[in-house]
Amino acid sequence: GLPERVTIYEVGPRDGLQNEPSVVPLEVKAELVARLAAAGLTTIETTSFVHPKWVPQLADAEELLKRVERVPGVRYPVLVPNERGLDRALDLGVTDVAIFGSATETFARRNLNRSVDASIEMFAPVVARARENGLAVRAYLSMCFGDPWEGPVPIEQVVRNGRRLLDLGCGQLSLGDTIGVGTPGHVTALLEAFAQAGVGPERLAVHFHDTYGQALVNTLSALRAGVTVVDASAGGIGGCPYARSATGNLATEDLLWMLAGLGVETGVDLRSLVATSVWLAGELGRPSPSRVVRALAKE
Ligand code: HMG
Ligand code: MG
Repeated sequence: GLPERVTIYEVGPRDGLQNEPSVVPLEVKAELVARLAAAGLTTIETTSFVHPKWVPQLADAEELLKRVERVPGVRYPVLVPNERGLDRALDLGVTDVAIFGSATETFARRNLNRSVDASIEMFAPVVARARENGLAVRAYLSMCFGDPWEGPVPIEQVVRNGRRLLDLGCGQLSLGDTIGVGTPGHVTALLEAFAQAGVGPERLAVHFHDTYGQALVNTLSALRAGVTVVDASAGGIGGCPYARSATGNLATEDLLWMLAGLGVETGVDLRSLVATSVWLAGELGRPSPSRVVRALAKE
């Protein structure tokens, strides 16, 4: 069966814009966040409190959060890798944060400048202090299917590293197919392995990049396994600057089209989102890679 309702965790302003070749103006970012909320998205990952040299595109995190008018009922999570990031987020009254770990050693070093073990040590006080302050904490796990340097990633390794992040006290674990190589059978097997390790689908989210065109079908596999939180980016923009060949996330519009056809509720207005992605494509200077955006924009 399928869930009656799915929560879309919108990552466009963060995962999308972090990978833009140029720095997007602050006003455009603020307008994007406002338009996403107006379309009915209730979780909008807004920016990252990372080192500005590592991700210059999001160096305006403070200014952006000051600009964004919080809509009641909408959550605006931000990425925080370490205590420095958490302090910056707390100063701005953030209520939702996400740490981001790796299933593989190579990507941990490339993305976080340390080993998997050292990154868990870095996250432990972040999660503890975030919870003391009443924040909701999500954990991402990258390279859950394949790694551009290490190749296929063993399922046991993914489950082990995912559990370590949850054991820190995170409320949700988002399984990232950072380079988009996963296929539906692999998704099913991974979710079964998590369930066997005591982590049911209610604690998981899925985060697919569409590099190989598998994001939507992988999502369907995850929904059939009971997952109800799906990460997506408006217009399918995005990627990860530290992962070779990671292209855009699953497009929110592509996801909405499928869910509408399946009769699964989201509360998000597809037409309004398409209009936003068409506007954003104009700002970014290139067309949205989303098939649904392109099809509906012509109507
Ligand atoms: P590091 O160089 O090891 O940091 O970087 P450090 O702790 O040694 O500190 C060095 C300097 O950076 C110090 O300054 C710190 O204060 C400063 P100095 O004393 O030299 O003047 N610093 C900071 N400044 C501002 N904000 C901070 C911060 N932390 C330290 N938070 C670090 C370690 C984790 C900071 C770095 O590697 C980093 O910023 N990485 C972020 C990489 C990133 O954002 N990647 C993209 C997001 S992950 C992703 O996209 C995948 C995902 O979508 C899921 C999927 O698709 O798989 C989530
Ligand atoms: Mg990502």
